Amino acid sequence: MTALQLFGYIAAATALQILLAVGIAVLYRRYRKPAILVKLTPARVKGAAWQGIRDFRVTTRVFEDRAQTQCSFLLAPIDGMPLAPHKPGQFLTFSLPVAGNDAPRRVVRCYSISDVPNSEYYRITVKRAAAPPGLLDAPTGVASTWLHDNALPGTILQVRAPSGQFILSPDAHTPPVFIAGGIGITPMFSMLKAVLAERTEEEAHLFYGVRDSQDYAFKSALKQLSEKHSKFHLHVVYASPGTEDVLGQDYDHAGFVTLDLLKQTLPHGRHAFYICGPDPMMKALIPALLKWGVDEADIHRESFGPGLAALKPQGSETPGAALAIHFRRSGRTLDWLGRDANLLDFADRNAIMIESGCRSGSCGTCETRVISGQVTNATKADHDIAPGHCLLCVGIPTTALELDA
Ligand SMILES: Cc1cc2nc3c(=O)[nH]c(=O)nc-3n(C[C@H](O)[C@H](O)[C@H](O)COP(=O)(O)OP(=O)(O)OC[C@H]3O[C@@H](n4cnc5c(N)ncnc54)[C@H](O)[C@@H]3O)c2cc1C
Ligand code: FES
Repeated sequence: MTALQLFGYIAAATALQILLAVGIAVLYRRYRKPAILVKLTPARVKGAAWQGIRDFRVTTRVFEDRAQTQCSFLLAPIDGMPLAPHKPGQFLTFSLPVAGNDAPRRVVRCYSISDVPNSEYYRITVKRAAAPPGLLDAPTGVASTWLHDNALPGTILQVRAPSGQFILSPDAHTPPVFIAGGIGITPMFSMLKAVLAERTEEEAHLFYGVRDSQDYAFKSALKQLSEKHSKFHLHVVYASPGTEDVLGQDYDHAGFVTLDLLKQTLPHGRHAFYICGPDPMMKALIPALLKWGVDEADIHRESFGPGLAALKPQGSETPGAALAIHFRRSGRTLDWLGRDANLLDFADRNAIMIESGCRSGSCGTCETRVISGQVTNATKADHDIAPGHCLLCVGIPTTALELDA
């Protein structure tokens, strides 16, 4: 074979290889599966909170008390993407399609996450809100009744990301004292479990006030925690024990969670108090703790109902001229004297009906247009406030105001 022939064979073989490679590339491009383009919205980024509404499916529901008025709902996102982590003590905000008189309408309500962060689900525990005592003809709570009656496994709920400032203080050296009244146990249960898991050397107390054994939620879970953790001290307080409730066995104290009880039970020294319960409990305990000398920074609190305006001591009005607040839709003008913690409490106290959810600047339900005047935020708001608007639940006036409310 001549050199020329050899060169010809090599050139032909190379050309064949190139042709083969091009052919394979063309076939691959033609028949490969199209790539699925995943849009990375905030909800889909691992571990991030989401903006706006996300759909969750109720996977399980279970009653936590004997009376079956407190029901836990486990919620999993239907997009299958990871949950956003939450801080123990935070809540979720729901937009619920409750039935109205003529047509369905939506209401916004917040529910604390009642379990520690995990990768599978959020858990909320909802108390069916009965008509107030003495007003038995009044309607029962619209959202809680709807959830109890309609949120069955498979139901899809519209949920905003976890938020809220009622969380554990980063100071791990001050022993926590959790004080829960009734359904106020939900954020406490999450915080308590986190403390027992992460701060194993820490003494932790839970004072849990309920009416009687019928209302005692998470009974076996709390009992197990107190048996497992020698540094956890559970104090169960029944307001009116039933005939079959045994002191020392079913409960530890009769009556209410009072300052005297705290003084008798707690070791001396500094504590971080976390309080969530019905209004009478908060109104009695918080001023009593302050009077006892507890630093205000060591009292963390959350109210599930109207705000804590009434906790401000009498005579704490801000000195200076009253500011005229005009609620245009309600047609009323009232004097702001600095007595209320925010404009929502001010409106509540004066029987001006304003729709609200979290009462802490997170959900945006109380966002109101400011027609004239200036409002400043008394506490930090998580919700992005639209220009020319304010959040009544955190806002206080700095001038006379006209509000579109
Ligand atoms: C941050 C936060 C966390 C929360 N976490 C929880 C939680 O973990 N679990 C929980 O159960 N709740 C929680 N709540 C409370 C919850 O958001 C709701 O406020 C609660 O479920 C009651 O809402 P509802 O729509 O059922 O009742 P609503 O319809 O708002 O009614 C409230 C009460 O008013 C009464 N009422 C209604 N209409 C009248 C009338 N015309 N006359 C007289 N009385 C009337 C009702 O009977 C009811 O007792 C939380 C609240 C906040 C702000
Ligand atoms: S009530 Fe939620 S932001 Fe005001």
